[in-house]
Amino acid sequence: MAMTHTPYDGSHKPFTIGLSQLDLATWIDVDRHFDFYLEEKQRLYRELPHEVLVAEEGTEDAQLEVMDLLIQHLADQELGSRFRGNDELSVLAQAALLVQEDLVLMRKSPEGWRLVAASLCFPSAWNLREKFGKTLARVHAPVPGFGEGTRNAGLIERMFDNLWPERPVLRWNWTLFGETQLYHPASERGVKRRFGDGGIAENVTIRMERQTLRKLPKSGDILFTIKTFLDPIEVLETHADGKALAEAILAQVRAFTPDEIVYKGLTKDMPRLLARIETISHRV
Ligand code: HEM
Repeated sequence: MAMTHTPYDGSHKPFTIGLSQLDLATWIDVDRHFDFYLEEKQRLYRELPHEVLVAEEGTEDAQLEVMDLLIQHLADQELGSRFRGNDELSVLAQAALLVQEDLVLMRKSPEGWRLVAASLCFPSAWNLREKFGKTLARVHAPVPGFGEGTRNAGLIERMFDNLWPERPVLRWNWTLFGETQLYHPASERGVKRRFGDGGIAENVTIRMERQTLRKLPKSGDILFTIKTFLDPIEVLETHADGKALAEAILAQVRAFTPDEIVYKGLTKDMPRLLARIETISHRV
């Protein structure tokens, strides 16, 4: 089984800020699933446009700026673009059909940086419409240690204020899901992930997000990109470092605070989930 990335090796701890400098040449990530991701985006645009596309009035110029930057980047990196635009869609929605990434436009306001437009097809257990128009601190309200008034919220806000166009940044997020669909909005509260009915969790999927932040020179807005990767936990069973990687996951999952476990909806499933990962870490 082909693996993508291993941010769960201990280098990107959950619930940390963990930003690094991004080499602009690697801004957009393309893999062999490109056609599948793009077909999925087009299906969602058709079937659930109001769940995956939002845009405030007054963001049109910034959307065009994103489109121009993407076209320029794809040409510079000789990545090409395989999907044609559609004039019935917003410019940001069309721009998002050039890449596998989700695209989110953030704009500074007196209350803080706000989510003002997005093409967001692959949410990791949240709803775009709930977050539309909100500040970063309010978007992160359910995340332990990241809501309004927290140290992290202040650090993120200042980092956004100080971002320079020529110095974009990168961060990784990863988590464990019981589902494999890319489009994964929040279901009922507390029932975020499922792992079958047995004593050991089934269908464990490592869900990873490669996130970039880039300040747009003309509008002054910030573009947040999210490239989602899904690997079944089985990839570790055939990986040369699989045992060590499983141990790294175990250590980080065991370190979750009670609030973090509740936030991730893992209260009930934790023992079964740990048991599944242990089957890999105990392998001889
Ligand atoms: C430095 C930048 C950022 C940091 C450090 C950060 C951090 C985090 C963390 C730690 C989580 C919890 C992840 C998990 O459960 O595995 C999270 C969730 C989330 N983040 Fe961020 N984030 C950043 C930027 C953004 C931006 C720009 C957006 C824009 C929309 C965003 C939207 C969200 C959303 C929607 C969630 C899920 C919230 C929920 O469960 O309701 N984040 N973020």
